[in-house]
Amino acid sequence: MSRKQLNIGLFGFGCVGHGLYEVLQKTPALRATIKNICVKDKNKEREIGPEHFTFDKNDILNDESINVIVELIDDADAAFEIVSAALKKGKAVVSANKKMVAEHFTELLKLQKEYNVPLLYEAAACASMPIIRNLEEYYDNDLLESIEGIVNGSTNYILTKTFEENLSYDEALKQAQDKGFAESNPILDTGGFDAKYKLQILVAHAFGYIAKPNDIFNIGIDNIGELELKYAREKGLKIKLVAKAFKREDGGLTALVIPKFVSPEDRLYNVDDVFNGVITKTGFADTHFFVGKGAGAYPTASAVLSDISALSYDYRYEYKKIYREENVFLAGDVALKVLLRHKKEDAENFKLYFNDIEEAYTNHDTGYLTGTITLENLKTLQSQNGGDRSFILIQAVTEKKAEATIPLEVV
Ligand SMILES: NC(=O)c1ccc[n+]([C@@H]2O[C@H](COP(=O)([O-])OP(=O)(O)OC[C@H]3O[C@@H](n4cnc5c(N)ncnc54)[C@H](OP(=O)(O)O)[C@@H]3O)[C@@H](O)[C@H]2O)c1
Repeated sequence: MSRKQLNIGLFGFGCVGHGLYEVLQKTPALRATIKNICVKDKNKEREIGPEHFTFDKNDILNDESINVIVELIDDADAAFEIVSAALKKGKAVVSANKKMVAEHFTELLKLQKEYNVPLLYEAAACASMPIIRNLEEYYDNDLLESIEGIVNGSTNYILTKTFEENLSYDEALKQAQDKGFAESNPILDTGGFDAKYKLQILVAHAFGYIAKPNDIFNIGIDNIGELELKYAREKGLKIKLVAKAFKREDGGLTALVIPKFVSPEDRLYNVDDVFNGVITKTGFADTHFFVGKGAGAYPTASAVLSDISALSYDYRYEYKKIYREENVFLAGDVALKVLLRHKKEDAENFKLYFNDIEEAYTNHDTGYLTGTITLENLKTLQSQNGGDRSFILIQAVTEKKAEATIPLEVV
């Protein structure tokens, strides 16, 4: 099959946009050329001449010779305007913007259907790792039970550097930013929001469930304290920020982002620095493990390139699992074994939220509990004021429903 000629209108010439520009120079066989690039800042110095750039999105959107829009900007609201306008004009779109895709999933699905144009976004989840197309295509029939992974390169980089090289949190974050791994707004990474947007996208392609951003509970890495790090070191564990989704037989789907203790037997243990890793568990194949670079100019550009290439032979996501409309609903009645670090005076109150306590420790001003708590109770505790506390997942009880113990003051 001969490849279509692709004339690209590129939005964004930052870390990924510039990476893509370079990668495309090295892949002439693709028959894809960048015709025009739209950026924002008129005063910024660029590595290539001004004749390549425009500051008006309509120069690209109204150019009929451009048949592919590649959206690589760091502003999710502006990105949605650009992407939806492009789809309405019948232009195929490639995007790396997880926040935009996650927040507007239903609208984007509708636009693709209505205007019969593809939108691909492999780089939006786990950058270089081809996870979306695998979830969409490969796990079509084998029953997917769970996905669990490290899906955010910057936080994994920060955790690796602070845990193994004793760098300060701020220094590790600065390094991640300098290397182009971090989002422009660091709270998106460190608060677990970026991981949550990715999990939303993965859940849609894995289980056919379109969650809204607020549906998925996320805790980031910014509250991890010395006590948890010490606990991990003493037990030979590492702390990783994981995104996890699992489905029960009754259709109950649980999805959350939370720091987790991982042991050397866990395949995520050696996924360090900017790498991402995802473990899928299915009914028949047992487990698969994907690993690859989760951020950076070339790794991310490689996924964008793969999507551009896929457009040249008319690939599109079919969203088969979404259209199958199986009975899937979000479930909070699951038990999670966690460590909760808290202020000393909170210990007795917090114990009431647990189904059982395995270990309780306090020193002069702080302490921790380990035990089982339902996701619903964990959410309640996390939302309470005076937030000097952190949760680290030890293990999720994935198979069965869990009854929450009701805190006494609520009864
Ligand atoms: N960096 C990574 O490792 C990575 C990995 C996976 C996915 N992503 C995603 O890829 C996208 C781009 O990330 P990045 O790291 O390349 O960002 P970046 O380095 O901050 O670059 C952002 C680019 O967007 C341009 N821009 C912002 N608002 C614009 C607007 N309204 N119209 C036109 N251009 C606009 C900026 O223009 P100026 O140059 O004029 O400032 C800049 O060129 C984001 O959605 C990010 O989440 C990034």
